[in-house]
Amino acid sequence: MYKFIFRPVLFLFPPEATHHLVVFILKLSFWIPGKSAVLRLFYCVKDERLKRKLFGLTFENPVGLAAGFDKDAKFFDEMANLGFGFIEVGTVTPKPQPGNNKPRLFRLTEDEALINRMGFNNDGVEAMVERLKRRKNFKVIIGGNIGKNKTTPNENALADYEYCFEKLYSYVDYFCVNVSSPNTPGLRELQEKEPLKKLLSRLKQLNIQKGNPKPILLKIAPDLTNKQLDDIIDIVRETKIDGVVATNTTVSRSGLQSSDIRLRSIGSGGLSGKPLAKRSTEVIKYLHEKSNGSFPIIASGGIHSAEDAIEKLHAGASLVQLYTGISYEGPSLISQINKAILK
Ligand SMILES: Cc1cc2nc3c(=O)[nH]c(=O)nc-3n(C[C@H](O)[C@H](O)[C@H](O)COP(=O)(O)O)c2cc1C
Repeated sequence: MYKFIFRPVLFLFPPEATHHLVVFILKLSFWIPGKSAVLRLFYCVKDERLKRKLFGLTFENPVGLAAGFDKDAKFFDEMANLGFGFIEVGTVTPKPQPGNNKPRLFRLTEDEALINRMGFNNDGVEAMVERLKRRKNFKVIIGGNIGKNKTTPNENALADYEYCFEKLYSYVDYFCVNVSSPNTPGLRELQEKEPLKKLLSRLKQLNIQKGNPKPILLKIAPDLTNKQLDDIIDIVRETKIDGVVATNTTVSRSGLQSSDIRLRSIGSGGLSGKPLAKRSTEVIKYLHEKSNGSFPIIASGGIHSAEDAIEKLHAGASLVQLYTGISYEGPSLISQINKAILK
């Protein structure tokens, strides 16, 4: 129904407007009594065999919502009724920031992909905390994806991550450290061995000082070389963080159906969706095999069907996250994946 009725209408609007429209309708519809129960009945797949225990957390099922969809933790409670086992909010930065100029989100319909250069538009971590304080659903795991402000130079980036970590600590179940967005100038340089080790060691140190440490994950780019992936494995081992989210969006434009003219008119940004699937799976497989499966991996990148999700799990991922697939396939993708995993 989504693909043949809703999607053609939604795709008439520019993608960022569609996102806000969908979220507005979703939020509004929750004023209808019983709406969440109906949605849960329709979308949630409940089965003990779907439960996953990872980093000391119990996930009701292995399908999550990737970062960037609910950047400000404005509708995670509503999204929870669609059957997700976990939802990652953010990327959030210490101070609010508007992000890049619009338009900054583009659809490549022929490729079933998106290009975005949102640039961490968000209301800031304090606003996020206020919303998370009103969290209603504690069954769905909430991850906090943290980043740095655009105006913060890389030399001071650590302070931004520390600030978000401290503020969010009591309100999220795990952290995801984002150093892999292509849309904040210089951010990806933090993926280099020394700055990354310093950053993760410091967060780990802060975490240990807490009574009840939270799992810390690192989100990496799909554009890293094998040598850089080897460094990531070393860093995960040395800093003893809990796992990796692989992958963020790519800066590559290879193998796309969309015309060069269209791609040139869009310009820079991170590509997500179907064309990312292959590379993202390669990264997962490489990390899993080279590390002898010594840390959990959350798969993100181009999951548009149950088969795509299962491929990621076979490559070595323990959980999967969706973003672009939801916009092309609709929310039934979540239950389709869970049902396929049960089979
Ligand atoms: C519009 C948009 C905004 C995004 N914003 C973020 C973000 O703020 N932080 C982040 O870590 N990833 C962000 N991502 C990346 C997604 O979380 C995901 O890793 C990526 O899109 C690959 O998955 P997909 O192919 O299923 O979309 C964003 C993706 C899109 C399309």
